[in-house]
Amino acid sequence: MQSSRAVVFLGAPGSGKGTQSSLLASQLGVPCFSTGDLLRSEARANTPDAFRLRQLLASGALVADELVCSAVAARLRRRDSQSGVILDGFPRTVEQAQFLDAVLDDMGWARPIVMHLDVSAEGLLKRLGGRRQCAACGAVYNLHSRQSLRGSRCELDGGALVERDDDRREIILRRFEEFARSSAPLIRYYAKAEYVRVNGDRPVNLVAEELLAVAHGAVLAAA
Ligand code: AP5
Repeated sequence: MQSSRAVVFLGAPGSGKGTQSSLLASQLGVPCFSTGDLLRSEARANTPDAFRLRQLLASGALVADELVCSAVAARLRRRDSQSGVILDGFPRTVEQAQFLDAVLDDMGWARPIVMHLDVSAEGLLKRLGGRRQCAACGAVYNLHSRQSLRGSRCELDGGALVERDDDRREIILRRFEEFARSSAPLIRYYAKAEYVRVNGDRPVNLVAEELLAVAHGAVLAAA
């Protein structure tokens, strides 16, 4: 990015935040940070805290703001974030958004560019039902739209492709409820920010093209 900006992705579970944030990060040459990936990796440890985190993630509830806020602040201050950063799954509450604004302000950055992916409920359910993730490296596939060329093994490292613990139907519905509850105030909070709503119900490459154009436009406008 020509001037340092943070891009944040909002969207329901399965809307493509992880897919699009990694694509955009590689196109812009900036790092991407997913709070969901971080939490899943911390939950794999063999400690009582990790066990509690595993249970919480499997329930579909949000974790405490402090836990994710301190991780995001540390990530933003790393040297490789100096030219910009993409945040996948953060902020999810107004408190997290206020925290992010304060950290960015402290770093001398503008408020974030907010990209909201809209996908129909049927589309979300189909995607989450078909999602498979490599147990070793976390690469994401989909039985409907992005099958692995190695069947039930990851193309990158041969790891087994598994379902996420929170991709069971009853937990998906709980995550949808959580998103509906927490996103409405967040969208209001960003009403006066650079907030763009994008139709995510299209093939990955078309959504990616639009997001890249938005990111370039926002950075040029700020330059
Ligand atoms: P997180 O990992 O962020 O989960 P989520 O928000 O529920 O989103 P998902 O990862 O399920 O979906 P996605 O939008 O990234 O879609 P994806 O690209 O994978 O968070 C998990 C949990 O961590 C939360 O429930 C909470 O407990 C905790 N947490 C995380 N952040 C937190 C925070 N800030 N505060 C508190 N708690 C927090 O795509 C889905 C599937 O569809 C894939 O298989 C993909 O290949 C496919 N796909 C993607 N795009 C398309 C397309 N255009 N067409 C067809 N298929 C597509």
